[in-house]
This record gives sequence, structure tokens and C-alpha cells, in this order.
Amino acid sequence: MSTESNAAHCVLVTGGAGYIGSHTCCQLLNAGYNAVIIDNFSNADPSVVDAIETITGRRPALVKADLRDAQAVRACFDQYPIDAVIHFAALKAVGESTAKPVEYYEHNLLCTSVLVKEMHSRNVKRLVYSSSATVYGMTNPVPFREDMPISAINPYGWTKVMAEHMLTDLAASDLEWSIALLRYFNPLGAHPSGLIGDDPNGVPANLMPYVNKVAAGILPDLPVFGDDYPTRDGTCIRDYLHVLDLADGHLAALDYIYKHTGIEAVNLGAGVGCSVLDVIHAYERASGQKIPYHITARRPNNADSPESYADTTKAWRLYQWKARRDLDEMCRDSWTFARTRLTK
Ligand code: UD1
Repeated sequence: MSTESNAAHCVLVTGGAGYIGSHTCCQLLNAGYNAVIIDNFSNADPSVVDAIETITGRRPALVKADLRDAQAVRACFDQYPIDAVIHFAALKAVGESTAKPVEYYEHNLLCTSVLVKEMHSRNVKRLVYSSSATVYGMTNPVPFREDMPISAINPYGWTKVMAEHMLTDLAASDLEWSIALLRYFNPLGAHPSGLIGDDPNGVPANLMPYVNKVAAGILPDLPVFGDDYPTRDGTCIRDYLHVLDLADGHLAALDYIYKHTGIEAVNLGAGVGCSVLDVIHAYERASGQKIPYHITARRPNNADSPESYADTTKAWRLYQWKARRDLDEMCRDSWTFARTRLTK
């Protein structure tokens, strides 16, 4: 769609100050959309909104609120002429979800149900939902296709499976709904400006934020969780994609749901598998320095599947979207962010 016609739309971005949300806001604003961020800043910094303005020259509207607060959500819809929602806001730490399962189910499912009820009452029935490749579980063969059975191995994953079921039932109950269930593979990288990126609170649980902290001298070395998997170098294979490609995938999905009703699950991945050691070596090339690492035990409870990568046929068929940036670019942009933004 043209920048001019996008200017007629107002998109609510829940969790818009987070890692994927902030990059998606940049791409939305650059494409001419109006964007409203609703965020409780539980795992994001309010300065991200300033960074989005610096990058795009446009400031998104901001509502500081928790989505579980139905009154606040209603007030947000009262204030802005929202006609579609991209719903990122969720708790997402797998280990924490195992330690605090009830909080995870409550938080993630309540956020989604409060939001969707408000949308329904306003006749705003266009939703892009953040799902995850984690819904492919441990038993499907790669590459993962959207028609494979879904399941989970931890509470975080179950909240994604359950939300997918809830939204599928909703779309079946009312044919006016238009919903994209986007199953993300592993986003890496950052905006090339270095102004926004992935900087979780505490010791990172995910690979790239950890590598960033090692490269920036904040953590001494990277634990690699196992080198005895049945893969080419013994470390796990994942489908890494640049966060800006992922953000562009949301715009492609949005464009699609403005034109079609119904519900579709769609993989957003590069369709290529890289090992943990591939990522380390690409990062070394990008940063021009060694990334010290040591091999440790596999993640507890055999939580890692040896291989995960997407069949990307459907994303191309429905959205004409595919990932364009390679692993070197992901590492280069991650390093720019780490070197300029992370402090000891
Ligand atoms: C993880 C979650 C997944 C979630 C996604 C986004 C698990 C088991 N899976 O995906 O459900 O949707 O994050 O939040 O937590 N690695 C190391 N050392 C580290 C960190 C990671 O070797 O310090 C390895 C992992 O074993 C894995 C790869 O790097 O093979 C990628 O890990 P990560 O970035 O955490 O992503 P996933 O585990 O694929």
C-alpha cells in the first residue's frame, strides 16, 4: 500500500517499546501509518520512544498502561481512532515461565482476552498476533509448516498455543475478524542506527543478547548449551532472521488483513538453519574480535530441539514477504548496538 493510503490508518501496537515492537513501530511510521504504543514498560525503557522519533522523524502516541487493566484499554480506544492492532505485549522468558507458571498463563492470556474483548465491542476486528515457532514443539520434522500439529513444552509455549486456539475460535465465531498468527523464528540484529535493540533486564536467556554482553566486556564468556546434538557441528540449529525483516513481515501481514477476513497462521523465518557456532563466528567477523565461549551441558529438561527452521512458502504466497538480510548483517547491527548502547 502507498504511504498516502497508510496515513488513513491508526495501528495500536501493544508492547511497542519492546525489542520487536519498537522496530515494527519504526517501519510502520516510515510507511506512513499512525502508531499508538501501549506498554507497561515492565521489560522496556521509555527512552525507546525518543529513539523511535529520532529514527523516523515521527513520534508515536504513547499510553503507559498494562493491558490487563480493561479500563485503561477502553480509554486508549476512546482516545485514538484505532482500526487495527499488532499485539506483542507478553511475558516471554521460558525459564521464568516454568518457575511462575500461573503468572504466565494469567498475564499472557488475560492481556490477549482483555484486548480482544475491547476490539470486539468497538468493531475493530483486525489483529496481528505474536506467536512463536515454539508452538511446533519437539516432535515435528524440519522445516516446520503451518499445517503441522502444535504443542508446547513449557508454560510460555502453552500460552502461545492457547492464544492461537482462542483466536482461531474467535475467528470461527464471527467471520468479520481478520487475524494473522505470526510464528516468529529467532530474531537477531538491531536497527542499524544502534539506537534500539535487544537489551533484556538481567542476565540474558537468549543467545544474541548474551553474545552482545560478552562482546561489550560485560560478561566474561558465552556458555554454549551442548555440542553433542545430531547436527553438522554438534550445536543446535535455528532459523535466525533480522529483526527489521521481522518488522517488515508485520507490515506485510497488516496489509493482508486490511484486505482479507479470516485467520491464518504464518511462519516468519529466513528458512535457513544456522548453528550456534555459525552465529559466534559471524559475530567475530562483524566485530573484529574473538568471542570467548565454553561448551556446557544441554539446557535443562532437554528444552532445546536440535533443529528448528521454517518452511517460508506460505509467507511468500500470502504476503509476498521474505527475509532479505543475512547473518553477517544481523551480527553487524547487533554489534553496533552492543558497542554504542550497552554499558558496563
Ligand atoms: C527461545 C525459547 C523460545 C522463545 C524464544 C524467544 C527456549 C528453550 N526457547 O528460543 O521458546 O520463543 O527464545 O524468546 O528457551 N544458546 C546458547 N547459549 C546461551 C543462549 C542460547 O548456547 O547462552 C543456544 C540455545 O541452546 C539455542 C540457540 O542458542 O540453541 C538459540 O537460543 P535462544 O536465543 O534462547 O533461542 P531459542 O532457544 O531458539
